[in-house]
Amino acid sequence: MKAARASASAKVILVGEHSVVYGEPAIAVPLPALRAEAVLLPGEEEGLRLVAADLRRSFLLRHAAEEDPLALAVRLALRACGLREPPSARLVIRSAIPIAAGLGSGAAVSIAILRAVTAACGAPLPPERLNALAYEVEKRYHGTPSGIDNTVITWEAPVWFVRGHTPQRLTPPRAPKLLIADGGPAPATRVMVEGVRQRFESAPRRYEALFARMGAIAFEARAALETGNLAALGWLLDENHRLLQAIGVSTPRLDRLVEAARAAGALGAKLTGAGGGGNVIALVDEAGRETVRRALLAAGAERVLEG
Ligand code: MEV
Repeated sequence: MKAARASASAKVILVGEHSVVYGEPAIAVPLPALRAEAVLLPGEEEGLRLVAADLRRSFLLRHAAEEDPLALAVRLALRACGLREPPSARLVIRSAIPIAAGLGSGAAVSIAILRAVTAACGAPLPPERLNALAYEVEKRYHGTPSGIDNTVITWEAPVWFVRGHTPQRLTPPRAPKLLIADGGPAPATRVMVEGVRQRFESAPRRYEALFARMGAIAFEARAALETGNLAALGWLLDENHRLLQAIGVSTPRLDRLVEAARAAGALGAKLTGAGGGGNVIALVDEAGRETVRRALLAAGAERVLEG
């Protein structure tokens, strides 16, 4: 094993969260400036030690529980290297991505670990394999996730994602400018997805219609993105947010942020990710960016990032 360093970006879902779980298309984009990093340093440890200071964790791999997602990512990587015994090394994990906020922090950390460990053993993974292994870890975090987070983060490109299908890379003529505003802590994704599932089961016709409309919005958003029609894209984000409210995953605080962004001149805004808290995205143009950023902070955003 040699020393190796690797990273992976955060992501946001532009349109289609939740409906993507039910087979509708969704679009996600990476946030390359916001990253998780893993550094493998071979050395005098009594095994493989994982140090994740942001999570206040430091432990030997052999002591980690079977269900620990960080340990699973390392074990899958070692298996891909053909190693039975972990090497003596320290694996340092750092992440600037807020946790449980719909920004894909779990998938980014898994992918950074998989990349660093397989680079260290001289067997870097091709993207399809990396994505498949990251999905195994995602299941540990989220139950039965659609796989959109690990896919967009593996490719680090805008993707058109339909569950069970090969993702398509999108190449918009201009990247949409987003502000990402933190609306506070969110429940685990699996809790939000399960809540939607229960409501779906008690009113299947209504929810099928809502998901179908979200799917139609994804098609329209793809066309808007690919033709650079940002005004249309903004309108579609607004419409998607109304549907997310209808399936019960928004909160008064997220709604306030969305309203504030629109009132300050954003082209459109919506919650992103599983909801119940977490982040709102606002589509802005260069001229309006600062005004919208200030409005989001004034409306109670804990922080505003740029994507
Ligand atoms: C979470 O980032 C997005 C959801 O659609 C869940 C999933 O796709 O697995 C809410």
